[in-house]
Amino acid sequence: MFAAVGSAVGLVNIWRFPYIVGQNGGAAFIALYIFCLILIGFPVLVSEILIGRTGQRDVADSLGTIAGKKPLWMQTGKGIMLTGFIVSSFYSVVAGWIIGYLVYAIRGVLSTVSYEASVHNPLFAVGYHAIFMILAMFVLNRGIQKGIEWANKFMMPTLVILLLFLMGYGLTLPGASEGVRFLFYPNWSALTPMAFLTALGHAFFTLSLGQGTMITYGSYIKKSENIPNSCIPIVVSDTVISLLAGIAILTIVFAGGQNPDSGIGLIFYTLPTIFAKIPGGYFMAIGFFFLVLLAAITSQTSAMEPIISYLIDKRNIGRHKAVFLVGISAFLLGIPSALSVFFFNKISFIAMDILIPLGGLAAVLFVGWVWGVEKAFPNLYGREPVKRSHRALQLYLKVCVKWLAPVLIAIIFISSIAT
Ligand code: PHE
Repeated sequence: MFAAVGSAVGLVNIWRFPYIVGQNGGAAFIALYIFCLILIGFPVLVSEILIGRTGQRDVADSLGTIAGKKPLWMQTGKGIMLTGFIVSSFYSVVAGWIIGYLVYAIRGVLSTVSYEASVHNPLFAVGYHAIFMILAMFVLNRGIQKGIEWANKFMMPTLVILLLFLMGYGLTLPGASEGVRFLFYPNWSALTPMAFLTALGHAFFTLSLGQGTMITYGSYIKKSENIPNSCIPIVVSDTVISLLAGIAILTIVFAGGQNPDSGIGLIFYTLPTIFAKIPGGYFMAIGFFFLVLLAAITSQTSAMEPIISYLIDKRNIGRHKAVFLVGISAFLLGIPSALSVFFFNKISFIAMDILIPLGGLAAVLFVGWVWGVEKAFPNLYGREPVKRSHRALQLYLKVCVKWLAPVLIAIIFISSIAT
């Protein structure tokens, strides 16, 4: 569960969530986002974990075995794993910039560097992409318990402490209330259909859905565990951490007299200029980029683990070799993203707007219709006897998994392709 939280909490919680909330109506958007989590995010997460826990294998084999050795589902599973692999290739590029910025922060030159010049410098972009990939491979190489679990046990609490500290700091700055207002003031008229798409797309990516991560982590969960109960803390902590990051970042941005810039500029451009101006900014900057790096490592490893676990299970190769093969290939595939904004935009669009929604759709259609909720849901509670409260939850999950989630995902999918 810790590892699943580590996977969910990543780059997009920190740089994207605060921005999209502010832009799309503050508390009104938060309400809409929570609505999307309840109707789609949570049911998809439960479905993925359930597939993994029941299948007990890699993504392709778990789907294939449950479906009764159907080749279509084995192939779908392979496609889903490939999505995680593609994500890991460009995620590492952005995470590499974070290491570069951490180095700038330590050297104390953050306010003098140019974001554009840095990320367009091939040595910077490819070099730090390589360093980040090596860090992720190092964690993965140590295996599930010593590597992934260890990294999460150490990194997640550190991240929360750092974040609370930054937030406390941000709140004491003059002008902080503007930032809080930007984040929380409800503006219902900003809730356009586009805001809905944004909320849904964000929910998918931030919960690491649609790319095999949660199916794989599900296969590591004990048979006795109650799945819905394990999934609630994942969704809640991901959301709470996003909100804390929102308060921390926006109070600092507003205290520095800046407006929240669009997207990634917020952490690579706006924040560094502010860190240079505020007292203690040197240490704050180091703490901040270190925090984002921790969040990125635990997400990156989770995007690579599905395909690694497949190679270990299916191709009978050892973990070290599998990690090496996947790491090197993801690094190579990431090079064009590191060198060309055009390529980066294309591949991240294909992964995030096409493949991930399709992967999530496959998971709910699989549980709802292929496997069937009647057969699937008795596996939800581990060894716990089914209680009355379970029935109510099952009814809600059934409606969402069979109907609401597939229909809503299809809508996002079609609209995002159309726009
Ligand atoms: N959830 C991660 C984030 O918020 C992104 C991610 C998705 C990582 C899927 C791995 C797998 O940044």
